[in-house]
Order: sequence, then C-alpha cells, then structure tokens
Amino acid sequence: KPKKVEPSLMVSVSSVNLSQDELKKIAAYKAVEFVESGMVVGLGTGSTAKHAVDKIAELLHTGKLKNIIGIPTSKITHEQAVSLGIPLSDLNKHPIVDLSIDGADEVDQEMNLVKGRGGSLLREKMVEAASKKFIVIVDESKLVNYLGGSGLAMPVEIVPFCWEFTLKRLEMLFIEAGCVGKLRTVGENGEAYVTDNGNYIIDLYFKKDMGDLKAASDAILRLAGVVEHGMFIDMATTVIVAGKLGVSVTNK
Ligand code: 5RP
Repeated sequence: KPKKVEPSLMVSVSSVNLSQDELKKIAAYKAVEFVESGMVVGLGTGSTAKHAVDKIAELLHTGKLKNIIGIPTSKITHEQAVSLGIPLSDLNKHPIVDLSIDGADEVDQEMNLVKGRGGSLLREKMVEAASKKFIVIVDESKLVNYLGGSGLAMPVEIVPFCWEFTLKRLEMLFIEAGCVGKLRTVGENGEAYVTDNGNYIIDLYFKKDMGDLKAASDAILRLAGVVEHGMFIDMATTVIVAGKLGVSVTNK
C-alpha cells in the first residue's frame, strides 16, 4: 500500500512567499535530481513539466547530464525540447522509458491522478505506462481527497464522430455522482478543441465521489467512441509536492 501524500510530510524550506509557478519549479527541479546520464526520459506536458524540461536541457548543456534521450508526451513538449536541443526519440524506438516526469491536475491520497486538462492525456498515458519510474510534480493546490474533488474537469478523449452521443453515455455512467459533461472548446466561436491525435475532449464534472476508480475506469473504456480518460490509477511511483511549508517526496 502506498504511503499517503500529506502536506505534513514536507521538509521545511524557505518557500513561504513563493508564487504558484515558483512552487512548480521547485517540484520540477527536485524531480530532475533523479535523472541520470544515459537515461531515456519521458518529458511531460504543462507548465510544471516545462520547468523540468528546461532544467534537463540546462544540465545537458553544462555537461552535468550526458546521453539523455527524451520521449515527448505532446507536440508542444516536442517543440520545446527541439528548441532546447534535447535529443528525442519515441516509443517505437525506445519502448522502455527509464523515468518520466510530468505534472498533474489532481493527486489523491493514494497517488492516483487526474491529468489532461492541458489536453495531452493520451500520449502522456502511453509514455508514462511504458516507464519504469513515473515522478509526478505538483504544487500543493493539486492535492485532493478524491479524484474529481477539486470541482474541476476529469477529461476524456473521444473520437469526434457523434460526440454528443458519447457525451450523454458518459454522463449516464455516473448519474449517481451528479456527472455533467462538456465538450472542450477553444476561441470565441466555441470550436471544438482538437487533441494532438485529432480527437475531441469531453470534460466531466462530478458533484460526488465517483466511487471505485478501477470500476469507473473500466466502464469509461468500455464505451465505443472513447479513446482514453485522464485518470492515472496506480501509475505514479513518486509524487513530489511543493508547498508553502516545503517540498515532500513520497515514494510508492
Ligand atoms: C496536460 C497535463 C498536465 O500535466 C496537467 O494539466 C498539469 O498542468 P500544469 O503543470 O500546467 O498545472 O496533464 O495534459
């Protein structure tokens, strides 16, 4: 059974006046300490993971890290890594990833995650599921009592075909949890957001705990039209939390 992620485990550092972005950077830099020369490294997506990618590039350029191969989890991270000169590959050529570092939208006390509010959940899950170690980096605002508990979205990537039908089927799965689904849109005209894989995202909002996460995951994945969901259950091996009282590292 994993150790619980609790702010009280934090080691004190002088972080009382730091902004949320500075906390994200502290968590990211702490994770990069686990990267060793010669590793194949999964490069996450989002504002927290971006700091980790920047730091890996800096260590490569100063020679403190050597022979790193990055596996990006999105087009945007691919672009960032290319611009920083990090050598890249993919899961076809490197099916086993030594270590992945990525942010999350929610982390529960069992180290289960919601990911994908940045839209990259499918590639993130593929890379992180292929990783021997998966370090999650968050600021303390991401800690929740249960997945969906922040009141923010749990994203599901679906095929565009008859998306309204799939949205209703998803809501019906979680009627008792008061689930409401919304198609993710962009821009003033409310056009559908399209993922790196050409799919749509339905954001699910819950009024209550969705119950057994494994059962919820299985039910979502059984729906034809669903590609993947943003619950990352039992995948994280380490969670690094940066907060006003310090930074904690919790291993499974
Ligand atoms: C993108 C993700 C991100 O890791 C997640 O949204 C956290 O983002 P941020 O670090 O910007 O708070 O899952 O698909």
